[in-house]
Amino acid sequence: MERTFMAIKPDGVQRGLVGEILRRFEAKGFTLVGLKLMHVSKELAEKHYDVHRERPFFPGLVEFITSGPLVAMVWEGDGVVASARKMIGATNPLSAEPGTIRGDFGISIGRNLIHGSDAIETAQREIALWFSSEELVSWQPAAVAWLV
Ligand code: TYD
Repeated sequence: MERTFMAIKPDGVQRGLVGEILRRFEAKGFTLVGLKLMHVSKELAEKHYDVHRERPFFPGLVEFITSGPLVAMVWEGDGVVASARKMIGATNPLSAEPGTIRGDFGISIGRNLIHGSDAIETAQREIALWFSSEELVSWQPAAVAWLV
């Protein structure tokens, strides 16, 4: 079954949007298989955003991600990687469509509330980076019978 990695960034936690964000993915019908509130080390933040290492925003991005608690999570379901990216919206919240998380709650690219893996291979790398296998719970919600 397809899985994706998402993280509610420190701004989402500070603004009290954790419940609202979890609610959207639950209501959509995806299955939560991993969830933890954590402070992120500089080392983990740098590894996570390794593709952006040479970009001018990289130091500020790492500083932001490590600035306060973040909610790391893994969600499962058919097509979850692409669907979650749609539900998150464009990188710049000012361009993100209303109805998306960034479109509804954000105004700044540097404070865009949530991360979501951009492809299935990226999701696999990020899940392995953020979660141990013991932290992931495989389960089959009974409600699936009403979805598919
Ligand atoms: P990116 O992977 O391009 O976006 P997304 O999170 O939508 O997959 O960029 C990673 C994060 O870096 C992005 O969420 C916010 C930050 N960022 C900036 O602060 N400034 C920028 O110009 C860009 C492109 C990204």
